[in-house]
Amino acid sequence: MKQMTKVLTFSNHKGGVGKTTSAANVGAGLSYLEKRVLLIDMDPQSNLSQSLGVENPEISIYDCLKGDSPLVPVNIKPNLDLMPSSLDLSGAEIELSTEPGREYILRELIEPLKDRYDYIIIDCPPSLGLLTINSLVASNEVYIPLQAEYLAMKGLTKITEVIDKIQKRLNKDLKLGGVFLTQFDSRKILNRDVASTIMDFFGEKVFATKIRDNVALAEAPTKGLDIFRYDPKCFGAQDYLGLCLEIIEKDSDDE
Ligand SMILES: Nc1ncnc2c1ncn2[C@@H]1O[C@H](COP(=O)(O)OP(=O)(O)OP(=O)(O)O)[C@@H](O)[C@H]1O
Ligand SMILES: [Mg+2]
Repeated sequence: MKQMTKVLTFSNHKGGVGKTTSAANVGAGLSYLEKRVLLIDMDPQSNLSQSLGVENPEISIYDCLKGDSPLVPVNIKPNLDLMPSSLDLSGAEIELSTEPGREYILRELIEPLKDRYDYIIIDCPPSLGLLTINSLVASNEVYIPLQAEYLAMKGLTKITEVIDKIQKRLNKDLKLGGVFLTQFDSRKILNRDVASTIMDFFGEKVFATKIRDNVALAEAPTKGLDIFRYDPKCFGAQDYLGLCLEIIEKDSDDE
């Protein structure tokens, strides 16, 4: 049976936890595993676009959200496309704030493209504003990257509340896909403590794969490359591949 397209959002309103690194490398990893993947950059910072070597795109997601264009993804490598962002997206939250149905704009934009992809992966800004809400409304599942540090758990109830509200009011199909640790260093006792607290809180929703702290993951974007093209043997590539395999396995269990 043909697999249904899954739309996944990487979200956490805390900044710098690894949303963009994870969106880029889970997308690249799934494409490497022969899934057809579309990445969508919903962050005005445009880190996802830049990290894959796309700067100053002719048409950005901002133009699409404003209604001036359909989605026109650019091809990054076989099986991997990207709908890029641009800085003017920072005005979108305010510009769209009076638009009727403003929470559903991205969902509508994605609909005509769905058949072309197995996975559509959305990278969000570090906030829970309209851009994140649009992403969650368009999604089947939300993935939360967490840094294994002291304050990582603080504010987590906030994001689970937002997910609950979106489920109730705007997208009853939305599920918490899973939680995973990033920038993990098992030598640090604090990291191990946080890992066990997160297990207590999220239980089976926590992925077994932890993304280790690995400098190659920070270097790859400066070359405009995902980790599999930059250094396919490094820990970062191994960890993201492990996460991708868990995601695929989980999806086949869902069906
Ligand atoms: N596992 C890792 N090992 C080493 N460095 C990492 C790792 N994951 C992410 N980084 C680095 O940490 C920084 C923050 O990561 P990233 O940009 O993915 O976070 P983010 O949640 O998208 O941030 P923002 O909230 O600003 O969008 C980046 O410089 C990135 O290269
Ligand atoms: Mg980011």
